[in-house]
Amino acid sequence: MPKRIDSLYLHFPFCAHLCNYCDFYKKVPQNKAQDYKNYHIYLEKSFEVHQSLTKKSGYSWAPLKTLYIGGGTPSLWGIEGKEFLDHFLKDKRIELAPDCEFTLEVNPGAWTEDVLSQWRSMGANRFSLGVQSLDAQMIKYLDRVHTIEDVFETLDYFKNNRLNFSIDFMLGLPFSKELNRNVVEELERALSYGANHFSVYILTVKENYTHYKSLPSEEWIEKEFLDVSAFLKEKGFEHYEVSNFAKPSKQSQHNLNYWKSKTVAALGPSATGFLKQDRLRYKWKPNSPEIDVELLTEEEFKLEQIYMAIRSEQGIMLSDFPKELEILTEKWKKRDLVTENNGLILLTSKGYLLLDSLMNELFSAKFL
Ligand SMILES: C[S@@+](CC[C@H](N)C(=O)[O-])C[C@H]1O[C@@H](n2cnc3c(N)ncnc32)[C@H](O)[C@@H]1O
Ligand code: SF4
Repeated sequence: MPKRIDSLYLHFPFCAHLCNYCDFYKKVPQNKAQDYKNYHIYLEKSFEVHQSLTKKSGYSWAPLKTLYIGGGTPSLWGIEGKEFLDHFLKDKRIELAPDCEFTLEVNPGAWTEDVLSQWRSMGANRFSLGVQSLDAQMIKYLDRVHTIEDVFETLDYFKNNRLNFSIDFMLGLPFSKELNRNVVEELERALSYGANHFSVYILTVKENYTHYKSLPSEEWIEKEFLDVSAFLKEKGFEHYEVSNFAKPSKQSQHNLNYWKSKTVAALGPSATGFLKQDRLRYKWKPNSPEIDVELLTEEEFKLEQIYMAIRSEQGIMLSDFPKELEILTEKWKKRDLVTENNGLILLTSKGYLLLDSLMNELFSAKFL
């Protein structure tokens, strides 16, 4: 099997403002021109390090089937970013396959028509919008830099240009109960703009989070998650991974690569890549173009594949496990946590919600 890299994640680490709940690697540029220049130098140097790692292991670049620019706030990279990346890829002889899924993350209030049309001319054909909520008050509590007007302006642009886009939404937000947040109403409104994919995350924070004491109860969050799942399924979306919903054929091909434990290269501070045939995971250091490398054992890789399969619509086959797993899955079926079809075990929405505790049950029963 030739060792080919046809999927690339690029991390753009800058944001206009740092949201108080966010744990991702990001920074606000102090001197934009200089900071972006340093970032470009970082990418050039990283690429050399990446080449020596991949060449040593016998990998070569194939036309990219997926390219994902995530952040941070990549839409802030602007025309300068598009020109840099276009030149960068050509210089490295990395082509985009004709059907490449090229995703750019876009934040409301952090884009212009000119910038987006430049990215589109380079091949960007999928956009992930960091909307989070359609409730003006929630956006304020979330400490987002964008306003509700920015959100609707963004949705209007994507609707009017009939673009292929996903929306990031967050559940379990502070003061949700007090304000009686209605996520289904928000989603219904978002749907009217033509989104064909939703990523729905439950807010996860540390105890020092500003609004920690105002977070809703577990029961509230559980209801939100199940309501969202039921609503989107009724509207023709597939709940194809714990946090992801797509109209048929609109799944994120890039993210499917992660969930199928395939080779995905990564560049950019704190980004993580994986070379499947070598079971080699690497993570970029944030401040210097160096990587930390981890070699998974066969056992670790197998566990990871199972974890990825169970958290997505791939599911797991009973026949791949000891007979006793059937007893456990029977119990799960009675609790409406899984379904079974010809030995294929798939989590239900309720099962997705309890993913971690189900994995613990699998571990403690020593099936993994
Ligand atoms: C890496 S962020 C990048 C997107 C963009 N910067 C934004 O915030 O809109 C991807 C998504 O992760 C989610 N996210 C960020 N911080 C989170 C947290 N603490 N808990 C749960 N989800 C979070 C948000 O929905 C966000 O859109
Ligand atoms: S915009 Fe996104 S990446 Fe940037 S600080 Fe806010 S949540 Fe984090």
